[in-house]
Amino acid sequence: MSKKILVTGGTGYIGSHTAVELLQKDYEVFIVDNLCNSHISVLTGIEKITKKKPHFTKLDLTDKHATEKYFHVHHDIDAIIHFAALKSVNESVSKPLLYYKNNLESLVNLLNNMLDKEIPSLVFSSSCTVYGQPDRLPVNEEAPLKKPSSPYGNTKQISEEIIRDTINSSDFLKVISLRYFNPIGSHPSALIGELPLGVPNNLVPFITQTAAGIRDQLKVFGDNYNTPDGTCIRDYINVVDLAKAHVVSVERLVNNKMNESLEIFNLGTGNGYSVLDVIDAFEKVSGKKLNYTIVGRRSGDVEQVWADVSKANEVLDWKTERNLEETMLSAWNWEKKYRGIH
Ligand code: NAD
Ligand code: UD1
Repeated sequence: MSKKILVTGGTGYIGSHTAVELLQKDYEVFIVDNLCNSHISVLTGIEKITKKKPHFTKLDLTDKHATEKYFHVHHDIDAIIHFAALKSVNESVSKPLLYYKNNLESLVNLLNNMLDKEIPSLVFSSSCTVYGQPDRLPVNEEAPLKKPSSPYGNTKQISEEIIRDTINSSDFLKVISLRYFNPIGSHPSALIGELPLGVPNNLVPFITQTAAGIRDQLKVFGDNYNTPDGTCIRDYINVVDLAKAHVVSVERLVNNKMNESLEIFNLGTGNGYSVLDVIDAFEKVSGKKLNYTIVGRRSGDVEQVWADVSKANEVLDWKTERNLEETMLSAWNWEKKYRGIH
């Protein structure tokens, strides 16, 4: 019988791509989402790609009672991938309590129900933001965590601590925490993708929306960093590659392959690209000249960060397969399809 996987935040950007990969591997997928940052129509995209239907329940995981009710019915879930969280760094600075409440309460409720129903396996969405500006690059999982630069980043650090303490108190709970670098791009079908609400904060949706004529001009935040072209460097990972790492992690959990009860992996490509590299890649694959200008630095930005992915490569036997240009093309194809541009 196929394993039952609960995907929280499964109508969101990374969750929807992961649901597709799980369904294509014949897992039975259960999605819960309160739709605060995603749209129900994403389910149609998932279904069109996979010809399968995930089970969907609208649920706010901060609602303790409703979450208990959900698990009362779905006590036989085999593993959970917990994507549901608020993720805007800027918004978290102006609304810290919203972020602490949403991201931490939902995790606590989830863990309580896992302990109660003896559901042993969890994959958690963490972030490279926990490293701040690392002292050494590429950064590996042993690097010391730096003081978070935002309440959002702090929720990820605290979540990892909550998970560690809960594992220590349990004799069955096992968790894989995945520290994502910068997820970008879309499913090659362009049937699902990244749908930021309002003005995007992140680089790639801002680029594609500018090229689509929705934004006037991209502002490049700073060209006087200590990097080869002066702009910040990040490790941009294709969202389908990222989604596949979740399937591998679930397989490791449900097949009892873990070396320790808590395993942490960086998920990136291992390559750093500057903002100007990303713009170049976009212009090359789209054949469009992007309207951009250099402005001052954005507060809170780290100068450069990219991942040491040797642990994920070796232990998970996973590596990225899609390069920056292919990924930028998928982001552009998604934007064009969504906006009806031919
Ligand atoms: P997203 O906003 O597209 O998806 C998150 C989903 O969770 C949304 O559909 C939202 O409606 C849902 N949600 C939020 N709070 C909820 C709650 N209380 N109950 C039920 N559903 C709730 O974000 P994403 O980019 O897919 O990110 C997924 C996870 O990965 C998040 O935990 C995020 O912090 C983490 N992450 C994302 C990035 C990135 O750049 N996208 C980088 C590192 C880590
Ligand atoms: C940030 C967070 C990360 C979070 C992610 C998702 C940090 C260090 N990282 O990533 O944890 O998961 O947001 O919200 O807090 N840029 C421009 N112009 C723009 C937008 C971005 O030049 O309009 C530049 C930025 O300065 C940065 C790069 O593009 O150098 C990537 O920015 P962005 O996509 O926002 O991601 P991060 O800041 O790396």
